[in-house]
Amino acid sequence: MSRVKLLDKEFELSIPEEKLLKAVDQVAEQMNVELADKNPLMVCVLNGSFMFASDLMKRLNFPCEISFVKLSSYAGTGSTGQVKELIGLNENLEGRTVVLLEDIVDTGLTIINTVDQVKQMGPEDVKVATMLFKPDACKRDVKLDYVGMEIPNDFIVGYGLDYDGYGRNLKDIYTVVE
Ligand code: IMP
Repeated sequence: MSRVKLLDKEFELSIPEEKLLKAVDQVAEQMNVELADKNPLMVCVLNGSFMFASDLMKRLNFPCEISFVKLSSYAGTGSTGQVKELIGLNENLEGRTVVLLEDIVDTGLTIINTVDQVKQMGPEDVKVATMLFKPDACKRDVKLDYVGMEIPNDFIVGYGLDYDGYGRNLKDIYTVVE
């Protein structure tokens, strides 16, 4: 499928599954070295991160746990500057290494807000792993410990990412056709 239509927009294939999985392999290799003795709690930030989290977890060869969280949603989310509340993180984080698993870092606002909230729960360390990163969109100073791929500043869907709820099931990534 080189093109898909979702609601009112057309998207064209931009990153095939094989390339995405190679990027996940690389992130996993790095984690397998760096987190081997950390007993980390991996935290999958839903909804977008479910595919990345699933593919990544299968490749990790050290003891770790996973938890699934959501951010409360507001109309016009993202770059509006509203603080979204982290929901569902009930574990005791004291003394733990927490690794946030994100689908994409765009402006950086979401991840900065999420890291701040996790830090308030007293973990020993908070690390960030993102499958995708748009460096040209991110004007904030964000510390990303693990990055799958850097991508241009275009709207994409697939591999967990959606356009108004649709497209999360696509195994490849597609870019909007303007
Ligand atoms: P940020 O706060 O601007 O970094 O945005 C992060 C969130 O916006 C991600 O977790 C996604 O849910 C969403 N997002 C950013 N860029 C895209 C995109 O190109 N397609 C779909 N969702 C996106």
